[in-house]
Amino acid sequence: MEQQLEVFIPSREVHLKIQEIARDISREYRGKRLILVCILKGAVVFLADLMRNLSIPVTIDFISVSSYGYAARSSGKVRLIKDLDLDIAGEHVLLVEDIIDTGITLKFLLQLLESRGPASLKVCTLLDKVERREVSLTPDYTGFVIPDHFVVGYGLDYGESYRYLPDICIVNPG
Ligand code: PRP
Repeated sequence: MEQQLEVFIPSREVHLKIQEIARDISREYRGKRLILVCILKGAVVFLADLMRNLSIPVTIDFISVSSYGYAARSSGKVRLIKDLDLDIAGEHVLLVEDIIDTGITLKFLLQLLESRGPASLKVCTLLDKVERREVSLTPDYTGFVIPDHFVVGYGLDYGESYRYLPDICIVNPG
């Protein structure tokens, strides 16, 4: 089925917001070793832009979990698909996420990574659907709090489509 897309947050607004977030992160972590952990796949575009706007050195790693698969709604179950390559014990870690919905994915990851003894563990998300939260969780850095629209583009997918779009768009079933 074809979907109709409507631009919701144009790429120029996304980029301005990322510059702001990057300034805050650079200020907080200056003089510390920071590992940015990208939660695949949706956050890959955000990570790529975020790290290039930082004014501090960082290392990056990737972790992959899945709770949605091809469904538009969370199944509530989180599966670890790919673990980190780096040892995060004693390191400052910032989880980079594209969107928080129920919060179930991040809660799982925070518990998993906290058990490895990082020096600090924080969360940076581009989008936050606060009204959909099912578990208590507040990100440390947020780009945009958004209403409960199904959004795609800038890394976010609908059945694996549309991740490549530069704008964040709303999907309207056609
Ligand atoms: C999306 C998104 C978050 C998660 C948020 O990932 O990237 O990781 O869902 O939902 P939650 O707060 O309800 O747990 P998805 O499982 O769709 O994988 P993807 O990033 O590979 O598209």
